[in-house]
Amino acid sequence: MLGSIIPSSPFLVRRLLDQVDWARARVIVEYGPGVGTITREILRRMHPDALLVVVETNQDFVAFLHDSLPDPRLQVVHGSAADICDTLVERELESADYVIAGIPFSTMPTPICEAVLRSTHQVLSPSGALLIYQFSPKVLPHLQNVFSEVRHGFEPLNVLPAQLYYCVP
Ligand SMILES: C[S@@+](CC[C@H](N)C(=O)[O-])C[C@H]1O[C@@H](n2cnc3c(N)ncnc32)[C@H](O)[C@@H]1O
Repeated sequence: MLGSIIPSSPFLVRRLLDQVDWARARVIVEYGPGVGTITREILRRMHPDALLVVVETNQDFVAFLHDSLPDPRLQVVHGSAADICDTLVERELESADYVIAGIPFSTMPTPICEAVLRSTHQVLSPSGALLIYQFSPKVLPHLQNVFSEVRHGFEPLNVLPAQLYYCVP
């Protein structure tokens, strides 16, 4: 379920987050923050009035994020990306401008993978985007089933080299 035990490299974090329109983004969701390598940089870049909701299944990481990132713009949720619709409704959030995901889609059973992608499509605003990084291209056909446009990128300077996908609803 971890996908990798080595945090994302600064090269990957930069390539991923350079795709975000930070002036416009007000609600950002991150799936699988782990120890917060990407979360920290999102908080550094995001607007003072923006909100970041991070969803993590591992309770130890949730506790660590609570203790290490005391930012009022951050909400740490112990739960699964599969429940993102309920997570936003509970917070009275209509939609997300960006969902940023590093969860291991390639090891999920196909029905669960597509269910997470469809729920993500449902919560994205019409001008929003899903940004994914993965160590395998296996998720690509599922992304193409759910999203109207999928752009591909690649970052070699990471353990392991990462595929990036920018998905438009
Ligand atoms: C590869 S790690 C990413 C760590 C971090 N984002 C980074 O870039 O260094 C994947 C994370 O996704 C979490 N995860 C796996 N499945 C998940 C799910 N369905 N919903 C939320 N988090 C999940 C794991 O617990 C793990 O922390």
